Amino acid sequence: MKQPFFYDITLRDGNQALKKPWRQEEKEIVFEKLTELKVQGVEIGFPASSQMDFDSCVKLAEIAPSNMIVSVLSRCVQSDITAAVNSVKKAKIPRVHTFLTLSPFHMKYVLAKQPDEVRKIVIDAVSFAYRELIKENKNGQIQFSCEHFGDCAENLDFVIDTFKQCQDMGVTVINLPNTVERYRPGVFVRMVERVRNALDESVTIAVHNHNDLGMATATTVESYFHGAVQLECALNGLGERAGNTNLYEVAVALHNCGVDVPIDLSKIYETALTVSQMAKIPIFEKAPLIGPDALAHRSGIHQDGALKTKDMEMGAYRPIHPSLIGRNDDEKIGITSQSGKTAIFETISKAGYPITLQEAVRIAPIVKESAEKIGELSTGQIIDIYFSETFNVKGHFQLENFKHIKGGTFEFEFLYKNKDFIAKATGNGPIDACIKALRDSGFNIKLLHYEQSALGEEVFGAGSTAMTVVHIEDETGREIIGRARHGSTAVANIRAIFNALNIIYK
Ligand code: KIV
Ligand code: ZN
Repeated sequence: MKQPFFYDITLRDGNQALKKPWRQEEKEIVFEKLTELKVQGVEIGFPASSQMDFDSCVKLAEIAPSNMIVSVLSRCVQSDITAAVNSVKKAKIPRVHTFLTLSPFHMKYVLAKQPDEVRKIVIDAVSFAYRELIKENKNGQIQFSCEHFGDCAENLDFVIDTFKQCQDMGVTVINLPNTVERYRPGVFVRMVERVRNALDESVTIAVHNHNDLGMATATTVESYFHGAVQLECALNGLGERAGNTNLYEVAVALHNCGVDVPIDLSKIYETALTVSQMAKIPIFEKAPLIGPDALAHRSGIHQDGALKTKDMEMGAYRPIHPSLIGRNDDEKIGITSQSGKTAIFETISKAGYPITLQEAVRIAPIVKESAEKIGELSTGQIIDIYFSETFNVKGHFQLENFKHIKGGTFEFEFLYKNKDFIAKATGNGPIDACIKALRDSGFNIKLLHYEQSALGEEVFGAGSTAMTVVHIEDETGREIIGRARHGSTAVANIRAIFNALNIIYK
């Protein structure tokens, strides 16, 4: 199978559909992006359309890399062809791209001409273009497009016959545009296959699919597997109406199918952002690959799968690893009422705060409740919940005061369900004394593990010198984690126990 040939039409079909077509300097920026992407052929404009377009074609043809095919559009009209030849002749490999419809509907209602008359115009035009271009540059190439090829199912024999005559006149690229996408990809692809089988191997078959029904990528990709080698695409899918086939989608789809794609895929994301800004067309939230939401996961099941396969090339819920297209914003985990513990865990850990999966399970219902009211929560809102549910847990217990009496003896004053308790105990430090005092007061808990985290200052900033983590076992054998932070280690220790108590005695 031949390597696909990417032919970009952003500067022509894309540009002609902009509310404010680009000036030459802007076209140069886009052209530079196309060069960086290593696109093999670029249609740089329609020189007969205006002096500005002619001048910018001259400039781009001059600066194009020597291995790039530089093409300009021309109607099947001698003055257009002359302008086209003059604008592109300085390119190393210039191409004049002529077009006319051969569709029965358009010949009748738009051109108001008989098929044989139209065919004659085509053949005269391509032979004139060939002669004129070759005179100027022996590397010159001629492309012919049958505009509205997708509407030619009923006269395909006539169309193929015209293509054969074009081939005899020196045309080396036959383009098959789905100028308006009306039907299904399978119908179009079968027509492509018929043309491919009817023409010489030396003729390149191209497809140029508009996206009126949203299937242009599918049609282009499948056309490649049925003989089309030149794939006409546009950056960000720019182009008339719903646009042209999006280059990024085709390139990545073929890459995923194991095709050797001659595009620098890692430049895609950056290019998309530049083009969006230049076209003043924001990238749709849900745009495949490049949309802000294209790699976001919101349901618990998806988040779980996404996180488990995060660093793998193939992800549970994504078509590519974001780095393939130069995206480094990773897979976004959006927290909504549909989200689960894994996503909460990941969001808080990623923000740099300590949390265990067990704690994420505990705060998940509170996060859900909040998301039900607000909608998707920001990281800041999730962190707020984490703080109040971890470091300042509200419940039946309230620590009123504690003091060091002497030696290992401490006194604790606290409320439980508004009842005042004062308990004194002696232990191996305040934590041990506190656990004993609580047991003496009827709260049968055991300290399993204790940690004084050095992370305090690093994570929470200056002033938060101590963070305590206690693992407490309740009467049923359940293990609960309590955390607290404070400038005084002793206060952090006792508060951590009370935070744990408020989780245990709900
Ligand atoms: O959509 C189309 O048919 C075109 C042609 C000029 C190739 O853009
Ligand atoms: Zn088009």
